[in-house]
Amino acid sequence: MNNEVWNGAGRRIHMQEVGTRDGLQVEPAFVPTEDKIALVNALSRAGLAKIEVTAFVSPQAIPALRDAEQVLREIERVPGVVYSALVPNVRGAERAIDARANEMNLVMSASESHNLANLRMTRQQSYQALSAVNAIARDAGTAVNVSLSCSFGCPMEGDVPEATVLDWCARYVDELGARGVTLCDTTGMAYPSQVAALVRAFRERWPDTELTLHFHNTRGMGLANVLASIAAGADRFDASLGGLGGCPYAPGATGNVCSEEIVHALALMGYDTGVDLARLLEAARRLPALVGHAVPSQIVAAGRRLDLHPRPADFDAIRERALARG
Ligand code: COA
Ligand code: ZN
Repeated sequence: MNNEVWNGAGRRIHMQEVGTRDGLQVEPAFVPTEDKIALVNALSRAGLAKIEVTAFVSPQAIPALRDAEQVLREIERVPGVVYSALVPNVRGAERAIDARANEMNLVMSASESHNLANLRMTRQQSYQALSAVNAIARDAGTAVNVSLSCSFGCPMEGDVPEATVLDWCARYVDELGARGVTLCDTTGMAYPSQVAALVRAFRERWPDTELTLHFHNTRGMGLANVLASIAAGADRFDASLGGLGGCPYAPGATGNVCSEEIVHALALMGYDTGVDLARLLEAARRLPALVGHAVPSQIVAAGRRLDLHPRPADFDAIRERALARG
């Protein structure tokens, strides 16, 4: 890791919120549509670069997001924020265009097993479907990002070779002209040296393509992986409010890196995330009531570093006694 990473020096880091998609997709309780809309609206005002609002997937596969159209149609659009939605196939693309998504986030897995489990297609079938989606998006003037699940390992297959991941990137960037690629660590298998190597390889090959890193904190390496990515030249991260998240079709999946934890840490180090942490925290504190359980966020639990606590009630007496001892 070069020394520069410890000192952000005002460098811009783009934070992309995925809590209303990756976060809610795995929640057993259905969050009412109006609450989802209010949550997106609160996030819009917090200064995030991009919000992945929902997913246009099969409602049988992900019942929690069966209200995707209504949510995307009824949110307030804050200028400058990109409103994205996950799309696995042509049917999803048509729905996303109807609901005025600014960006389609095309999804497939770098692992054959996870692609079959999650999307019921081989990778090649997904690529064909997503090539058609890409053509539809181009005609509609909608931007395209591609998310490659399991880019740092598959919970069923193990390591996914770096060359395999880069080959899929090449097919989307070079053949289809995708604007951006997201390398996803779907089940928290990524570790910092691996991350740095893949980010560096991607950056060298595609210096002008928007690169996002999408980490899950399943094994506690989330923030370390973010810093390793920055050191290797990345400046764009997915994260989820409260640290919610996980793919229901990836065994062992748990929450994304937590938006407020990453923003809190990067701000302390002098990075410019553009995010208003107080507003983000206000939204995060509403989550337990929405999802019906506590959220993983350490910042919701502990507060910010300088959210101080009162001294003990008998503090003056303690001090008197200590001073009296001489
Ligand atoms: N939106 C809404 N409905 C869709 C759809 C979409 N994008 N794609 C398919 N469907 C519907 C079909 O109309 C069909 O409905 P019916 O049973 O009422 O006729 C049903 O879903 C099955 O369609 P089919 O094309 O056979 O899909 P499938 O069962 O092979 O599933 C996917 C393929 C991709 C649609 C499904 O696996 C899926 O949505 N996966 C997403 C999983 C996910 O979001 N994981 C977490 C994020 S990584
Ligand atoms: Zn994810």
